[in-house]
Amino acid sequence: GAPVEVNISKVEPGQLIRVEWRGKPVWVVRRTEAVLNNLKTLDSKLRDPASEEMQQPEYATNPARSIKPEFFIAVGICTHLGCSPTYLPDSFGEQVEGVTSGFFCPCHGSKFDMAGRVFQGVPAPLNLVIPPHKYVDDANVIIG
Ligand code: FES
Repeated sequence: GAPVEVNISKVEPGQLIRVEWRGKPVWVVRRTEAVLNNLKTLDSKLRDPASEEMQQPEYATNPARSIKPEFFIAVGICTHLGCSPTYLPDSFGEQVEGVTSGFFCPCHGSKFDMAGRVFQGVPAPLNLVIPPHKYVDDANVIIG
């Protein structure tokens, strides 16, 4: 699989775009300030808040799990059995108290925050995978 270059300049706050890399869906999500602030409050609800249980790029271990906090880039595949989680930009409803947005896997109910970090008490064992990537400039990122 060749690296994929993605132009992110038109991604609106809150929007998720999908690209394909090595036959896998990769998400690019533009996070708002409110979302980023919420991430800092979730550690006690997460299984592995600092992403210590998996091999990941060094830039995937900060709380936002990203190079630029505003942009979350992840492989859109559930770490349980590989279903495709649904992006819930506004609400988990009452499923996770205090969490305003994230990713919900419809197959067996795993939940991930807006940094792809898995919540406790769900079947998925690990956080979502962050693919290797780098920015070539403010508007373009290369995945792979
Ligand atoms: Fe996502 Fe099982 S595949 S919860």
